[in-house]
Amino acid sequence: MSALPVGLDLTDPAGVGAAADALAATPDRLDVLVNNAAAFVDWTETATNADLDAARRVMETNLFGTWRLTQALLPLLRRSPAPRVVNVSSGGGSHGDKSFGLTARGGMAASYGISKAALNALTATLATELADTTILVNAVCPGLTATWPGAESMGARPVADSAERERRDLRPCPGARPARMVRP
Ligand SMILES: NC(=O)c1ccc[n+]([C@@H]2O[C@H](COP(=O)([O-])OP(=O)(O)OC[C@H]3O[C@@H](n4cnc5c(N)ncnc54)[C@H](OP(=O)(O)O)[C@@H]3O)[C@@H](O)[C@H]2O)c1
Repeated sequence: MSALPVGLDLTDPAGVGAAADALAATPDRLDVLVNNAAAFVDWTETATNADLDAARRVMETNLFGTWRLTQALLPLLRRSPAPRVVNVSSGGGSHGDKSFGLTARGGMAASYGISKAALNALTATLATELADTTILVNAVCPGLTATWPGAESMGARPVADSAERERRDLRPCPGARPARMVRP
């Protein structure tokens, strides 16, 4: 296996197109697209006090950026025998997460949660549209993971533990359609 480093800003349509072209040149097909990148807001942001320009930037990356990159890479995915799209979502965008869900955290980090709820909707919509193809579209949530200083004190798992958990959750799941949400 070889690696091809490609710089990418999901909010830049030209950059996304250039990245897709670079990937198309070699190795000319894509088996798995993991949409992991995300923008965040200050935890104190709520729907009533949100700076909508900042909220729009979060949506531009977490929803439209992911959507844009997925569209751009679909031709390459279609060349794979078993293509996968994995959107890294968050319990923060779910209705069911009892700790960090949309109605569980007093409205905090509003635009992040709203963007992940929209990402979940995109995942289900894409999975349904592509149900008659070989492309399987899912969302996963790594759970609270120590990717920033002080996260452990909130109960976050080490990065390696969350990575292992995602690897387990992403094992081939024959016949899994449409989108399956994997939550903490
Ligand atoms: N950590 C958690 O507890 C947790 C819990 C649930 C879900 N998640 C999800 O897991 C994923 C990874 O989270 P993380 O904690 O590892 O976050 P992170 O450390 O902040 O990493 C986010 C990455 O996204 C990149 N990014 C941001 N905006 C971008 C853009 N416009 N174009 C391209 N790349 C961009 C960042 O690049 P730069 O560094 O260059 O800005 C960074 O590498 C995210 O989708 C997050 O929502 C995390």
